[in-house]
Amino acid sequence: MELIYLSRADVEELGLTMKEVLEAVDNGFRLKGLKKTEMPPKPGVHPRPNAFIHAMPGYVQEVEAAGLKWVSGYPANPQKGLPYITGLLVMNDPDTGVPIAVMDCAWITAMRTGASVGISAKYLARPNSSTAGILGCGVQARTSLAALVETLSALRIVRCYDLYPEAAKRFIDEMKAAFPALEFVTCNSPAEMMEGAEVVVSAIPILEEPEPPLEAGMLQKGGLAVSLDYDAAWTSAAMKECEKFASDDIGQLLYTKKEGVHFGGIPESIYADLGELSAGLKPGRENAEERIFSMNMGIAVDDMVTANILYARAVESGAGTKLEL
Ligand SMILES: NC(=O)c1ccc[n+]([C@@H]2O[C@H](COP(=O)([O-])OP(=O)(O)OC[C@H]3O[C@@H](n4cnc5c(N)ncnc54)[C@H](O)[C@@H]3O)[C@@H](O)[C@H]2O)c1
Repeated sequence: MELIYLSRADVEELGLTMKEVLEAVDNGFRLKGLKKTEMPPKPGVHPRPNAFIHAMPGYVQEVEAAGLKWVSGYPANPQKGLPYITGLLVMNDPDTGVPIAVMDCAWITAMRTGASVGISAKYLARPNSSTAGILGCGVQARTSLAALVETLSALRIVRCYDLYPEAAKRFIDEMKAAFPALEFVTCNSPAEMMEGAEVVVSAIPILEEPEPPLEAGMLQKGGLAVSLDYDAAWTSAAMKECEKFASDDIGQLLYTKKEGVHFGGIPESIYADLGELSAGLKPGRENAEERIFSMNMGIAVDDMVTANILYARAVESGAGTKLEL
C-alpha cells in the first residue's frame, strides 16, 4: 500500500484558486446543512499557555472525503520565526479506511479559513458592502481578504489594524500588489479601524483570558463581524447587540463553551449554522439594518473538501512523494 505525501510547496504548486476553494467550501457547508457530513467536535491538547493542538476528523458524503487534520496554534511561534499555525492532514479511502495521503495543512487551513469568511459574507453581508476592516494582519487575514474580493464585488476600501505596525505594512504592501484596485488605510487603533467598516474580520491570537478591543457600539448598523479568533476580539456585549449570531458549527461552539474557557459571553440564542444558510434552510441577511455576527471556529468539513481536490489533482499530475505504508 502506498500513500502520497504532499509538502507545503507541493500543495501550493497544485494551483488551487480561492474561487475554487470558495465553491468547495460552500458545497461542504451545504452538505453539512443537509446532514450529509460527520464531524465530531474537535478535541485538543494544550501543552503551553494559550497554545492548542487540535484533532479534526471529518467525513463528507457525495464528494467522498474522509480524514483528519492535526493542527496546532502557538501564539509565541512568530517570535521564533515559526508560523502560528502548523500541522498535517491525513486522508483516508472512505471504502477501506486505508490512508491515501498525508499533506501539510497550513496552506489548506489558511485558504479554507479565508473561504469561510467569504461564505459568511455571501449570506450575511450587505451585498453592496464596499469597506472591510481587518483586525490582525496575519496569514488568515490575507486569505480572508482574497475571499472577500471574490464575494463582494463592490469592495473598494480595506481598513487595517495590527498591534505591530510593521505587520500591517507588510500586509498592505502584499495585498496592494495582489489587489491593485483596492485602497488600503492604515489605522492606529482597533476603534479607528472600525470607522466605516461594513465587514470586519478579526484574526488575532486566541487567548484564554482575552482583553477584547472591539466593543458594543463599534459595529455599524447593517455590518457583519466575522471572528476567526474565538472570543479574543469582541466583547460579550458587542456580540450580544447583534441581531443575528451565526457560526460555522453550532455543535462545536456549544461543546467548546461547555469546557468553560471560551464562549461564556456568546448570546443565548444562536440564529443559524452557516450550513443551514448554504443549504437554503434559513435566510441569511434579511434587511440592510441588522448587525450580524459570524463565529467561524474552523471546521474539518472545510478542510476535507479542499484536501480532496488537492488529492485528486496530485493523483492526476503525479505530484508529491509516494511513501510505503
Ligand atoms: N477560525 C479558523 O478557521 C481559524 C483557522 C486558522 C487560524 N485561526 C486563528 O486566527 C488567528 C490568526 O491566525 P494567523 O495564522 O493569521 O496568525 P498570524 O500570526 O499570521 O496573524 C496574527 C496577527 O495578529 C497580530 N496581533 C497580535 N495581537 C494583536 C492584537 N492584540 N491586536 C491586533 N493585532 C494583533 C499579529 O501581529 C499578527 O500579524 C489565530 O487566533 C488562529 O488561531 C482561526
